Amino acid sequence: MQILGLSGGSPNGNSEILLKTALQAAQEIAPPDAQIHFVRVPDISIPRHFRVSDAKSAQGAIEQSADPSATNEPDDRPFVLRAIMEADIIILSCPIYTRTIPGIVKHFQDMTMGPFQDTAMARHRQRMAAATGDSSSDEDFELLFKPRVAGLMAVGGAAGTDWTPFGLPLMHQMFFSMGIQVVSQFQVNGCGLPGSILLDAAALEKARQLGVLLVSQAGKQDVTFQGPQQGTCPLCHLDMIVVKDGNEVECATCGAQGRFVVEPGENLVTVEFNEEGRKSSVLTETGKDLHLQEIMRVAGSLRPRMAEVADSREHFKKLDTEWLVKFS
Ligand SMILES: Cc1cc2nc3c(=O)[nH]c(=O)nc-3n(C[C@H](O)[C@H](O)[C@H](O)COP(=O)(O)O)c2cc1C
Repeated sequence: MQILGLSGGSPNGNSEILLKTALQAAQEIAPPDAQIHFVRVPDISIPRHFRVSDAKSAQGAIEQSADPSATNEPDDRPFVLRAIMEADIIILSCPIYTRTIPGIVKHFQDMTMGPFQDTAMARHRQRMAAATGDSSSDEDFELLFKPRVAGLMAVGGAAGTDWTPFGLPLMHQMFFSMGIQVVSQFQVNGCGLPGSILLDAAALEKARQLGVLLVSQAGKQDVTFQGPQQGTCPLCHLDMIVVKDGNEVECATCGAQGRFVVEPGENLVTVEFNEEGRKSSVLTETGKDLHLQEIMRVAGSLRPRMAEVADSREHFKKLDTEWLVKFS
């Protein structure tokens, strides 16, 4: 069993203490040969821009923004990605910075996960290769599709939740593309001094329980989310809801479609997500497939017209020579 801890916080800070608490609890009940690795996300060297080679596994989705000169910066992404691929259990613990996750964690996520590891895209490539008899791919589909479970822990210094809205919702975005199933998540508030998490026995206990739970769910294809809170959305179990037309709503975290329901006779509004609406969630393969179809449709309609703007693109590129501020 491979257990991977990812921390987005300060060295030996609150997020790390929480993470190590969960890892220790996991180690206590894991098989004796279980291996634990811990990565400080801010220590990972990540190129500032996409490389041309990054576009390969992303169906061209980021081709145009790749930077041909970004080849000399150190790049630890392959090593960390391998650790994520091989892990059975991943625990991500992050502080809240300015109401959201640290930018460095988001940068790692954007540069490494997302479309690069999208299982719907990979299944599409696999189908295309089978249909055309192309056996040239060296992609390790078996490893990509293996079941993995994750636990999320967010730590904020503010007393209430009004300064932490984008913590857990953004941490989710790290895992859905690879189909890693989040089975437990929680947020701690009021953790405002270095190490003060050690004064919060309830938070440490939640971390221990998260570690134990993940070991019990590791390797399972279909796992059930275990809380501690069930939340409004039945897929991501969070509460960030986008209000749309009429009584329609969308889960901001995972994209499930639902509607407000006013309970008759009661002063109570609930949100209902039916079977069809749940299929839009990026936590389902159907939801990711819908997005794949959508981006292929968009790119397909734009590609034949790109020659029209070739000169304009050159014009904007050349403005760099006049205006671009360069950093060493
Ligand atoms: C730049 C910065 C911004 C912060 N913004 C928030 C915030 O918006 N909401 C909040 O609850 N705490 C905020 N905090 C407090 C941290 O989340 C809190 O101190 C946390 O325990 C730090 O975790 P660490 O020790 O793992 O780094 C912020 C801290 C820093 C350094």
